[in-house]
Amino acid sequence: FERQDGRSQKQRLLVVANRLPVSAVRKGEDSWALEVSVGGLVSALLGVNEFEASWIGWSGVNVTDEIGQRSLTEALAEKRCIPVFLDQETVHQYYNGYCNNILWPLFHYLPLPQEDRLATTRSFQSQFAAYKKANQMFADVVNAHYQEGDVVWCHDYHLMFLPKCLKEYNSKMKVGWFLHTPFPSSEIHRTLPSRSELLRAVLAADLVGFHTYDYARHFVSACTRILGLEGTPEGVEDQGKLTRVAAFPIGIDSDRFIRALELPPVKYHIKELQERFAGRKVMLGVDRLDMIKGIPQKILAFEKFLEENPDWRDKVVLLQIAVPTRTDVPEYQKLTCQVHEIVGRINGRFGTLTAVPIHHLDRSLDFHALCALYAVTDVALVTSLRDGMNLVSYEFVACQASKKGVLILSEFAGAAQSLGAGAILVNPWNITELASSIGYALTMCAHGREKRHHHNFLHVTTHTSQEWAETFVSELNDTVVESQLRTRQ
Ligand code: G6P
Repeated sequence: FERQDGRSQKQRLLVVANRLPVSAVRKGEDSWALEVSVGGLVSALLGVNEFEASWIGWSGVNVTDEIGQRSLTEALAEKRCIPVFLDQETVHQYYNGYCNNILWPLFHYLPLPQEDRLATTRSFQSQFAAYKKANQMFADVVNAHYQEGDVVWCHDYHLMFLPKCLKEYNSKMKVGWFLHTPFPSSEIHRTLPSRSELLRAVLAADLVGFHTYDYARHFVSACTRILGLEGTPEGVEDQGKLTRVAAFPIGIDSDRFIRALELPPVKYHIKELQERFAGRKVMLGVDRLDMIKGIPQKILAFEKFLEENPDWRDKVVLLQIAVPTRTDVPEYQKLTCQVHEIVGRINGRFGTLTAVPIHHLDRSLDFHALCALYAVTDVALVTSLRDGMNLVSYEFVACQASKKGVLILSEFAGAAQSLGAGAILVNPWNITELASSIGYALTMCAHGREKRHHHNFLHVTTHTSQEWAETFVSELNDTVVESQLRTRQ
C-alpha cells in the first residue's frame, strides 16, 4: 500500500464488530484477565499480513467506573483491541432486544411466536432507538481512532447503522460492511417496521458483502422493491451514487486445524476418544445452542433412525456439543429446555445400563479437544434451518484427511453452495429424509467417502479465511478509487 508521501507501509484496517475477540474478567480494581477467542473472523485476520489491523467492539462486560474503563482499555490495547462501553440498559435493548430477538430470527426466516411478536411491537420503538444509539457509540469510537487512509470494515447485523454514522462523520472514510447471516428474501425484510432506514444506512457504505450470491441478490431486490432504487450488476445506484454489492464466501484457516492434528495433546485426545467409543460409529454435532441450528430436528431424526434400525442401537453414538449463547433472551432459554427434554427422552428410551445413544454437552470445548473430536468422527451432522455460512462443516472437513468421514449438510446453510457436491445435502425440516440420510452416511463405501472428502478438502484448503479477508479489503480499496474517478469525470 502506497502512502501519499510515497513511503510504503501497511494499510491500517479498523475491524468493527459487536463483540471483541477477547473476553475480559475483572480480577481487581484495575486488573483484568483477558482470553483471546479465535473465531472465524479473528483467524481470518491473523493470517493477513498485508494490514495493520485493530479491532473495535463491545467488551462483553459491564464496566461503569472510570478506573475500570481506563484499565480495561489499556489491557486491551496490548491485543490491538479498542473497547466500546455499553451500559446495561443499552445492552438489554440493543443486543438482547433488537439484534437477537428481532433481526437475528427474521434474517433466518424464523417468525417470532404471535404473543412475542405483539410484545415486540410494543417495545419495538425503544429497542430500535437503543440500536441506533449503540451504533452511534461504535461510530464515536471509530471516529476517535480513525486516521486518513484507514479502511473501516464493519461486521454483521448488529451494526447496520454504522456505515451511515461513519459517513456522517467523514464522507471520505473508506467503509465496508459485511453480513455474516443470510440476507432474507425482500418479502421477509419488508415486514420489518424499520426496513427502509436500515437499508439506507447500509447503503452509505462503499462496499457491501455477503457470503453467497443469493444473499447479495436478496439485498439488491430489497433496495429496488422497498426503496425504489436501481439495481445494477455492480450493486445499487441512488442518484448517481453506486454502492457496490457482492458475494465474498468466507473460509477457515485450514492449516491451523491440519497442523493441530500433529500435536501431542490432540493425538492423546484422539486415542482416548477412540478407546472410549471403540466398536461404535461416532456421529457429531457442534453448534451454538441457537434455534437456527436445527438441533431438535437433528436429534429427532437420530431417534427415528434408532427406532427403525434396532441393529444400530448399540453401534452408534451421537455427540452433540451445544455451546450456550444469548442466555438472557427468552427464546434461547425455551430452546435449551426443549433440547434437554428430547435428549432425556431418547436416552431413557434407547439407553442401557452401560451406554446412552446421545452425549449432549452444554458447553464449548477447547481447540485441541474439538480437533480431536472432528478427527474421530464418522458422520458430522449440520442441520441448520438457515445459516449464513456454517464453518463447523469446514472445520470437520479440514480434520478428516485420514478418516474421510461423511458430512450431512443442510441445504439451507451457505456452505451447501461450496461443499454441496461432497456432502449429503438434506432438508432438515424433513425428519424422515434426515433419518434415512443418517443410514446412508453410516454405510457409505470407502470409495464414495474418499471421493466426497477429496472434493470438500480441496475447497476448504484453497478457499481460506485469509484469502477472503484480503479479497474484501482489496475490493473495497478498488471500489473507492473507481468511485473517485467517476465523480471526477
Ligand atoms: C453469529 C454472528 C456473530 C456472533 C456469533 C456469536 O455467528 O454472526 O456476529 O458474534 O454468532 O454470537 P454472540 O451473540 O455470542 O456474539
